[in-house]
Amino acid sequence: MRSPAELITDDVAVALACLHAGGLVGIPTETVYGLAADAENPAAVARIFEAKGRPTNHPLIVHISDVSAISGWVDNMSRDAMTLAEACWPGPLTMLLPRGPRVHDSITGGRESVGIRVQSHPLTRDLLDRFGGGLAAPSANRFGRVSPTRATHVVADLGTVLNPSTDVILDGGPCPIGVESTIVDLMGSSPQVLRAGAISADEISRLLDIDVESASGTSRAPGMMLSHYAPLCAIELVKDQAAAEVAIGRLIGAGHRARALDRTSDLVVAARELYGDLRQADIDELDTLVIVMPAAIGIGHALRDRLQKASNARQ
Ligand code: TXA
Ligand code: MG
Repeated sequence: MRSPAELITDDVAVALACLHAGGLVGIPTETVYGLAADAENPAAVARIFEAKGRPTNHPLIVHISDVSAISGWVDNMSRDAMTLAEACWPGPLTMLLPRGPRVHDSITGGRESVGIRVQSHPLTRDLLDRFGGGLAAPSANRFGRVSPTRATHVVADLGTVLNPSTDVILDGGPCPIGVESTIVDLMGSSPQVLRAGAISADEISRLLDIDVESASGTSRAPGMMLSHYAPLCAIELVKDQAAAEVAIGRLIGAGHRARALDRTSDLVVAARELYGDLRQADIDELDTLVIVMPAAIGIGHALRDRLQKASNARQ
């Protein structure tokens, strides 16, 4: 790992210069940190896949500054897409829409759809406004691992693969939401939520005035396998505090390093801290982190989804 001082900056002008020169920029968003490159520079986009160790057929989200800048990125904004854009952007929603001529094959893995997002973090809004174009930006973690919610997490994951003479991490502090954006697929005859996030399927149903399905099990979005978002330690999910105590007793009795985590009293905090908590478990070299499952309300849906995936990784 490089020293954070070599890569981290809070100067948007420095980040902008990196993008123009074809470099990579770690960007803060309201959900998690992204690893951004000029979406119209295929060599820069190729470096994203390389840095993450991500298969090149897994498509990238394109970030634009505002819905008014969408021309060329999508082929056709349906009425549903306009409704969601007006209600949710800037904010934690990614829409899969028919791709426009500015979208290179390297972004979509040759698909007909593109994931478009207008995020709300002020530093990255400023960067996108000044940049003018689109930024391809997946989460700034190694493939399959836990997303970063602080600039130091990006250094921990990608510090050795980023190059301080061409790349930079823009430090915007801790991400306020902490789990990735909701992904809604608007390509089919009825909208479908492919990834749960802070904007719930219920909220989308209400805005569109129709029943929106949530994809369950193996998702149609590539790269969202059942085991994803995983720390190195095992995750054991339990239903309440009492069950956590029983599990801890059993694990410690068997000689495991184990700890319980119960953030069910405040799900907004639970989401904000989730990836930091998972990372801390690895820093502390736990064998098992026992986590009390949050209720399936509001952002609890997204938390349950990520926890399920993290727990599947070692089964
Ligand atoms: O909150 C977020 O969405 C963060 C921040 C940085 O914007 N980004 C993020 O990107 O989570 P990523 O690449 O880690 O996850 C996006 C998911 C991937 O599973 C990808 O395969 C899927 O969205 N995806 C993107 N474009 C797609 C497309 N055109 N069709 C199907 N799936 C797509
Ligand atoms: Mg990711």
